[in-house]
Formats: sequence, C-alpha cells, structure tokens
Amino acid sequence: MTRLSPANVSSLGLCLLLFLFLLPTLCVAADSCSTGACHADMSGVKFGHMPVADGECSSCHEQILEAHPVAEGKSFRLVEQGAALCYQCHDSYGKMLTVHPPVADGECTFCHNPHGSNAGPKLLPVADDLKELCTQCHDEGMFNQQFVHGPAASGACTQCHNPHQANQPRLLKKSVRNTCTGCHTDIGDGLATAPVIHAAVEEASCLTCHNPHSAPAAKLLQKDVESVCLECHGDVGRKAQRAKVKHAALYREEKCTGCHTAHFSNNDGLLFLKEQDVCFTCHGKNDYHKSNALKNIAAQVEGKPYLHGPLEDGQCSACHQPHGSDYFRMLNGPYPETFYYPYTSGSYDFCLGCHDSNMLRFESTSIYTEFRNGKQNLHFLHVANQYKGRTCRACHEPHASNIDKLMNEVGAEFGEWNVPVRFNKTETGGSCSPGCHQNYAYDRENPVSYER
Ligand code: HEC
Ligand code: HEC
Ligand code: HEC
Ligand code: HEC
Ligand code: HEC
Ligand code: HEC
Ligand code: HEC
Ligand code: HEC
Ligand code: HEC
Ligand code: HEC
Ligand code: HEC
Ligand code: HEC
Ligand code: HEC
Repeated sequence: MTRLSPANVSSLGLCLLLFLFLLPTLCVAADSCSTGACHADMSGVKFGHMPVADGECSSCHEQILEAHPVAEGKSFRLVEQGAALCYQCHDSYGKMLTVHPPVADGECTFCHNPHGSNAGPKLLPVADDLKELCTQCHDEGMFNQQFVHGPAASGACTQCHNPHQANQPRLLKKSVRNTCTGCHTDIGDGLATAPVIHAAVEEASCLTCHNPHSAPAAKLLQKDVESVCLECHGDVGRKAQRAKVKHAALYREEKCTGCHTAHFSNNDGLLFLKEQDVCFTCHGKNDYHKSNALKNIAAQVEGKPYLHGPLEDGQCSACHQPHGSDYFRMLNGPYPETFYYPYTSGSYDFCLGCHDSNMLRFESTSIYTEFRNGKQNLHFLHVANQYKGRTCRACHEPHASNIDKLMNEVGAEFGEWNVPVRFNKTETGGSCSPGCHQNYAYDRENPVSYER
C-alpha cells in the first residue's frame, strides 16, 4: 500500500480525474484489472483464488463491449457458464455414485467466491464452521436437537461428507462404520478384537441406534436407551413387564446398560463385567436390611470353601432370571418362600430342575440321597412331611457355605430367630443339633434307632 504523502495525494486527485473521464479506456488497457484502482479489492483478498491473484482475469472473463465500464449492460461476460467455467482448470465432478445437486447444477459459486474470500480458505464465505453455509439449503433442525454431536456442532461437515460427490450414499466419504470409527478408534478396535460382538452393531449400521448430527436422547441415541434396545428385543421387554417378580435393576436410570454394553464385550451376554461381578456392583454392598433384597451376596460367596455348583463358574443366571421371573427371588422355577412348605409335585421344581426329584418322592431308598438313616429317606421325612414339610433353606445355603453339602451355618430365618443346624458329617452319615429338635444322628450303613 502507498502512504498518503503529498505526492500521493496529488496522484490520487489525478486518479479521481481519470476515473471520471478516462477510466473506461485505461482500465481495459491496463495490464491487470486488479492492480489498477477499479478492482483493487480482488488482489488484497486474504484467501485469494490463484488465477485472480495472478491477474488472469481473462481466464474467466472475456470482453464483449469495447467500452468498460458501461452504464447499461455489461462489457464482460464469463468465458463459460456454470461448472464449465471452473472445469477449465479443475477436474470435473459427476462421475461418482452421489453428486450433490448444487454441484450437478453447476452452482459452484453458491458456495465459492470465484475471486477469493476474506473469511476462510477454499474460497468459502465462512471460516471453518460450515453450518451457516449448508443450512442455507438444509434444515437447521437436524443439528439442533437436545444432544449435539461435537463435529456437527462445530460445523465440521466435511469431516464426514464430501461437499461435491461421493461413492457412498449421503455424500459420505467412507462407509458409515468407517466414518464413525475413523474418529472413535476405540470402538473400531473393540469391534475388530473383542470376543463378543453385538449382532446389531456387526450386521447393522451405527445409525440403527445413533443419529450422526444431533439427537433427542443422550449419547446421540434416537430414543432413550431402553426403547432403542426394545426395538429389537421386544421379547425381553414383554417378559420383564409381565414378570411377577420384577428386577429393580431394570428400572434404574442406566436401564439395560446397567449390565450390558451396547457394542462389544469381553464377556458372554455382552455383560460389561463377568456375570457375577456385574451382579456384585449392586449386590456386593452392605446396605442390607430385612425388607431389602440387596443383600451382600458377595460377602456370602467370597472366601467360602463350598460354592453351589453354578457359582463356581461365577454364574448367577443359572438360577436367577436377570430380567425378572414369575417366581420367588426371580428364580427360574418354583421354590416356596416360607420356612414350611410340604413337598407337592411341582412345588420344588426350581431345585429339582438340577437335582434328582426322586430324593423327595420315596420314603425309603438306598440310592436317591445320602441323607438317609439306613434306607429311611430323611429328605422325604423333612420336606415331604405333609404336616410340617421344611423347605430346603432350613438346612441348606443357596449360594455358598463353610460347611460341606452347603449346610446352613447361621441358620434360616424363623421369625426373629435364625435356626441353627449345627451339622456334623461322618463317613457314613452325620448329626445335627438344630434349633428344631434335640441332637439326632443318621447313618446309612448302621441305621440309628430313633425308638425311645
Ligand atoms: C476463476 C474464474 C474467475 C476469475 C479468474 C476472475 N473472475 Fe471475476 N467473476 C467470476 C465469476 C464466476 C463471476 C460471477 C459471479 C457471480 O455471478 O456470482 C465474476 C464476477 C466478476 C465481477 C462482477 C462483480 C462481482 O464481483 O460479482 C467483476 C467486476 C469481476 N468478476 C472482476 C474480475 C477481475 C478484475 C478479475 C481478475 C483480477 C476476475 N474477475 C477474475 C469468475 C472469475
Ligand atoms: C484458470 C484456471 C482456474 C479456473 C478457471 C478456476 N480455478 Fe480454482 N484454482 C485454480 C488454481 C491454479 C488453484 C490453486 C491450486 C492449488 O492450490 O492446488 C485453484 C484453487 C481453487 C480452490 C482452492 C482454494 C484454496 O484455498 O485451497 C477452489 C475452492 C477453487 N479453485 C474453486 C474454483 C471454482 C469454484 C472455480 C469456478 C468458478 C474455479 N476454481 C476456476 C485455477 C483455476
Ligand atoms: C455446497 C457447497 C459447495 C458447492 C456447491 C461446491 N463446492 Fe467446492 N467445496 C466446498 C467445500 C465446503 C470445500 C472445502 C472442502 C474441504 O475443506 O474439505 C470445497 C472445496 C473445493 C475445492 C478445493 C479442493 C477440495 O476438494 O478440497 C475445489 C477445487 C472446489 N471445491 C471446486 C468446486 C467446483 C468446481 C464446484 C462446482 C462444480 C464446487 N466446488 C461446488 C463446497 C462446495
Ligand atoms: C460425524 C459425521 C457427520 C458429520 C460431522 C456431519 N454429518 Fe451429515 N450425515 C452423516 C451421516 C452418517 C449421514 C447419513 C444419515 C442417514 O443415512 O440416515 C448424514 C446425512 C446428512 C444429510 C442427509 C440427511 C437426510 O436425512 O437425507 C445432510 C443434508 C447432512 N448430513 C448434512 C450435514 C451438514 C450440513 C453437516 C455439518 C453441519 C453434517 N451433515 C455433518 C454424518 C455426518
Ligand atoms: C444450494 C443449496 C445447497 C447447499 C448450500 C448445500 N446443499 Fe446439500 N443438498 C442440496 C440439495 C438440493 C440436496 C438434495 C435434496 C436433499 O437431500 O435434501 C442436498 C443433499 C445433501 C446431502 C444428502 C445427499 C443424499 O445422497 O441424500 C448431503 C449429505 C448434503 N446435501 C450435505 C451438504 C453439506 C455438508 C453442505 C454444506 C457444505 C450442503 N449440503 C450445502 C442443496 C444444498
Ligand atoms: C470427526 C470425528 C468424529 C467422527 C467422524 C464421529 N465422531 Fe462421534 N464424537 C466425536 C467427538 C469429538 C465427540 C465428543 C467426545 C467427548 O466429548 O468425549 C463424539 C461423541 C460421540 C458420541 C457420544 C456423545 C455423548 O453424548 O457422549 C457418540 C454416541 C458418537 N460420537 C457417535 C458417533 C457416530 C455414530 C459416528 C458416525 C456416524 C461418529 N460419532 C463419528 C467425533 C467424531
Ligand atoms: C444397538 C444400538 C447401537 C448401535 C448399533 C451402536 N451403538 Fe453406540 N451406543 C449405544 C448405546 C445404548 C450407547 C450408550 C452406552 C452407555 O451409556 O453405556 C452407545 C454409546 C456410544 C458412544 C459413546 C460412548 C462410548 O462408548 O464411547 C459412541 C462413541 C458410540 N456409541 C459409537 C458407536 C459407533 C461408532 C457405532 C457403529 C460402529 C455404534 N455406536 C453402534 C447403542 C448403539
Ligand atoms: C437393530 C436390532 C437390535 C437392537 C436395536 C439391539 N439389539 Fe441386541 N441383539 C440383536 C441381535 C440380532 C442379536 C443376536 C441375536 C439374538 O441373540 O437375539 C442381539 C443380541 C443381544 C444380546 C445377546 C448377546 C450374546 O452374545 O449373548 C444382548 C445382551 C443384547 N443384544 C442386548 C442389547 C441391548 C442392551 C440393546 C440396547 C442398547 C440392544 N441389544 C439393541 C439386535 C439388536
Ligand atoms: C441386572 C442386569 C441386567 C439388566 C439391567 C439387563 N440385563 Fe439383559 N441379561 C443379563 C444377564 C445376566 C443375561 C444373561 C447373559 C448370558 O446369557 O450369559 C442377559 C441376557 C440378555 C439377552 C440375551 C438372552 C435373552 O434373555 O434373550 C438380551 C437380548 C438382553 N439381556 C437384553 C436386555 C435388555 C433389552 C435389557 C433392558 C431392558 C436388559 N437386558 C437389562 C443381565 C441384565
Ligand atoms: C444396577 C443394580 C443391580 C444390578 C447390577 C443387579 N441387581 Fe439385583 N437387584 C437390584 C435391586 C435394586 C433390587 C431390589 C432390592 C429390593 O427390593 O430391596 C434387586 C433385587 C434382586 C433380587 C431379588 C428380587 C426379589 O424381588 O426378590 C435378586 C434375586 C437379584 N436382584 C439378583 C440379581 C442378579 C442375579 C444380578 C446379576 C445378573 C443382579 N441382581 C444385578 C439391583 C441390581
Ligand atoms: C444354584 C442356584 C443359585 C445361584 C447360582 C445363585 N443364586 Fe441367588 N438365590 C438362590 C436361591 C434359592 C435364593 C433364595 C434363598 C432363600 O430365600 O432361601 C437366592 C436368593 C438371592 C437373592 C436374594 C437374597 C435375599 O435373601 O434377600 C439375591 C440378591 C441373589 N440370590 C443374588 C444372587 C447372585 C448375585 C448370584 C450370583 C453371584 C446368585 N444369586 C446365584 C439361588 C441361587
Ligand atoms: C442350575 C442348577 C441347580 C439348581 C437350580 C440347584 N442346584 Fe444345587 N447344585 C447344582 C450343582 C451343579 C451342584 C454341584 C454338583 C453336585 O454335587 O450335584 C449342586 C450342589 C448342591 C448341593 C451340594 C451337594 C454336594 O454333594 O455337595 C446341595 C445341598 C444343593 N445343590 C442344594 C440345592 C438346593 C436346595 C436347590 C434349590 C434351592 C438347588 N440346589 C438348586 C446345581 C443346581
Ligand atoms: C433337614 C435338613 C435338610 C433339608 C430340609 C434338606 N436337606 Fe438336603 N441334605 C441334608 C443333609 C444333612 C445332606 C447331606 C447328606 C450326606 O451327605 O450325609 C443333604 C444333602 C443334599 C444334597 C446332596 C445329594 C444328596 O441327596 O445326598 C442335595 C442335592 C440336597 N440335599 C438338596 C436338597 C433340596 C433340594 C432340599 C429341599 C427340597 C433339601 N436338600 C432339603 C439336609 C437337608
């Protein structure tokens, strides 16, 4: 830029004179239209278009009238119309699967200023937030729902879309999955390596559950977590809803994701930890009181030498239905909830689903149970006793015990008292000094006489 020295001021005056009388001929004659006073704004552009900066106006403009400027009409016209003007120097678009309509229509200058821009690079009227440009034609509502995706919020549309054309639908530069995992590399890695992968993520698009721009629910979900899941797992939802014993865990804020991961996992059933540890996130705390089933099961199990079969593998769902069931304590079959309940067919099906039901069906046996005095079946005696049948909990722990055969140590709840069993095992039998009766022994080989 020239300073305003006296000499410059006088040449400025001269210029003004020239402008009024001589400019038309001078400008056209000038070497460059933008180095003169007329279109000087074109050379000072911050992000200029190279041919403009180089003064090659004629690569786009040709003179059609000798006079310039003219009061009416134009003395210049573009050498080509629409995209053809640009394709003189740039590769043409239109060969790919999807072409953006304004590109196909040759409206390059809707988005690009052919001369350059002071706002940002690529001849765009904006710096780097493209939202304002794109929403001149696209519905802004797409980006305005409650939870907005970072790159969409900042108008980084071209991280995912090619503004001109693409071989993917929706002008995407890559497949949807590769678009997403291009930034969310942890998810990409997990999907490539985790042993358990959610079929919904494997077989369907990320967009089955997420919106790419903004969404009405957290984590860019199309709807709240539970509704997203139940879209495909309606059976789980119906079962949970119909269950007579419902699991409070399903109704907490995290809903399904309180136990499951959405994409992949190291654990069966898409659980975010090993099954037992998932349960212990809630059932491993000491906030138990009698009306509260959030008993500290972890404390019942950990360090005990005798674990109930399935618990040796950390399995809880072998016995409990995690989404709720029709039976006491969400068990997967009937099990009486009281201290007394005489055996009738069906009433102990929960235990008898895994253990031999003959143990309760014959008054006398030499094979179906070890709990017998000679041939007298003491399981039958205690449980099938139609006057005062005791439930299994009178003698056994459900989860684990310090005593062989899962014998109950502390004792089952009996009103305000826990009835102790005080079991002693021998080679061929055992004895109990329970809270129920005097000490009794039993012996499979040399039956004890209970006659008085
Ligand atoms: C790459 C092609 C290209 C080059 C090079 C180019 N122009 Fe343009 N120019 C255009 C297009 C296209 C338009 C029409 C813009 C529109 O209609 O939106 C235009 C319009 C104009 C206009 C009309 C007013 C306006 O800004 O819309 C002037 C004046 C102009 N150009 C001057 C110049 C000068 C001077 C140069 C050289 C320094 C130049 N142009 C170089 C493409 C170019
Ligand atoms: C006379 C040749 C020529 C014509 C005609 C032309 N361009 Fe260019 N354009 C160039 C050159 C040279 C560059 C600089 C190339 C580079 O940086 O790789 C360029 C760069 C660009 C850039 C990138 C600018 C940046 O900041 O990186 C855009 C966008 C662009 N042109 C759009 C257009 C559009 C739109 C048209 C038609 C209106 C057009 N060009 C017509 C030669 C031309
Ligand atoms: C809907 C708006 C839009 C239209 C219409 C459009 N462009 Fe672009 N163009 C862009 C954006 C945005 C970028 C910057 C891309 C980026 O930063 O990744 C760009 C970049 C470019 C570039 C720089 C090279 C590149 O790909 O980054 C060229 C050259 C270009 N456009 C040419 C054209 C031509 C020629 C047309 C017309 C046939 C056209 N554009 C139509 C939005 C548009
Ligand atoms: C994180 C990647 C990403 C970003 C950033 C992004 N989009 Fe998209 N966009 C997508 C995906 C994926 C789709 C495909 C949606 C579908 O198929 O349902 C899409 C679809 C679209 C559609 C078509 C919508 C329809 O329903 O037909 C438009 C228009 C669009 N995007 C514009 C934009 C604009 C404008 C921006 C920037 C403000 C932007 N996008 C930012 C990924 C993105
Ligand atoms: C001049 C108007 C205009 C501008 C500006 C514009 N678009 Fe479009 N775009 C359209 C039209 C028209 C369609 C086709 C109808 C539709 O899907 O809405 C379209 C479609 C799209 C699609 C969907 C393509 C498909 O296959 O369905 C995407 C993605 C898109 N535009 C992204 C963008 C982005 C990103 C920007 C800003 C860089 C932008 N558009 C700016 C007019 C425009
Ligand atoms: C250009 C990079 C980029 C791409 C591509 C991208 N994301 Fe994101 N995404 C981000 C960033 C940045 C965040 C915010 C991260 C944060 O806050 O920790 C984010 C956050 C998210 C979130 C969490 C939002 C929340 O509320 O916590 C989800 C869900 C998400 N992205 C899904 C997707 C999906 C689906 C795709 C593909 C359509 C995708 N992302 C593509 C960059 C990207
Ligand atoms: C079956 C539905 C579903 C599909 C399909 C899905 N997601 Fe998610 N995604 C979710 C849910 C639900 C959450 C929230 C998880 C939570 O809160 O624990 C989530 C969270 C996210 C988050 C944010 C939290 C995080 O883990 O970082 C990102 C990012 C994300 N998803 C990306 C993706 C990508 C990328 C894809 C495709 C490869 C995808 N999602 C496919 C349901 C889905
Ligand atoms: C688009 C449909 C779809 C959506 C939405 C969906 N899933 Fe799935 N899910 C499947 C399919 C398909 C399978 C594999 C077949 C089966 O086991 O039913 C599956 C399997 C599962 C499994 C068993 C995995 C295994 O390896 O045992 C769990 C757990 C699961 N989904 C949880 C969820 C959760 C939680 C959500 C919500 C965040 C969800 N799903 C959303 C389709 C879906
Ligand atoms: C309290 C923890 C917990 C919650 C909360 C939970 N699940 Fe599960 N879910 C499990 C366990 C444990 C399994 C059994 C895993 C196995 O088979 O290894 C399972 C299995 C599944 C399965 C595959 C087997 C089947 O039953 O169909 C699906 C699908 C499933 N859950 C979906 C859901 C959905 C949908 C929600 C939310 C409505 C949900 N889960 C909530 C713990 C939970
Ligand atoms: C997100 C916390 C949470 C997780 C994880 C959880 N639970 Fe629960 N569970 C609860 C709550 C809360 C209750 C209800 C406590 C109450 O009613 O006092 C409950 C109750 C129960 C009950 C008693 C139901 C009744 O009403 O009799 C059983 C059995 C149970 N859970 C088993 C499991 C198993 C098995 C797992 C692992 C698959 C598990 N829970 C995981 C929170 C959880
Ligand atoms: C072999 C079957 C079995 C397995 C495996 C099992 N449970 Fe249980 N669970 C039971 C039975 C039976 C009861 C009812 C005990 C009673 O009231 O006599 C019960 C009761 C419960 C209760 C309610 C406690 C109360 O009294 O309030 C919770 C909570 C519970 N189990 C959680 C778990 C968790 C967590 C696991 C896995 C670590 C698990 N269970 C594994 C059979 C099992
Ligand atoms: C899901 C299957 C399953 C259910 C249901 C089940 N158990 Fe078990 N139980 C086992 C397994 C497996 C073992 C260890 C192998 C064995 O000794 O049979 C076991 C062992 C036992 C033992 C110790 C036996 C020994 O020889 O050490 C007792 C006692 C027992 N269970 C009682 C019960 C009671 C009482 C119920 C009902 C409240 C019940 N079980 C329900 C699978 C189950
Ligand atoms: C009065 C106490 C008592 C009651 C009630 C009781 N058991 Fe037992 N149970 C025992 C004793 C004692 C043993 C150990 C026998 C031995 O090995 O000497 C035993 C052993 C077992 C065994 C190991 C296999 C066998 O039969 O020797 C299973 C399984 C078993 N009980 C299941 C049950 C089930 C299921 C119930 C409820 C339907 C139940 N028990 C009720 C005392 C009881």
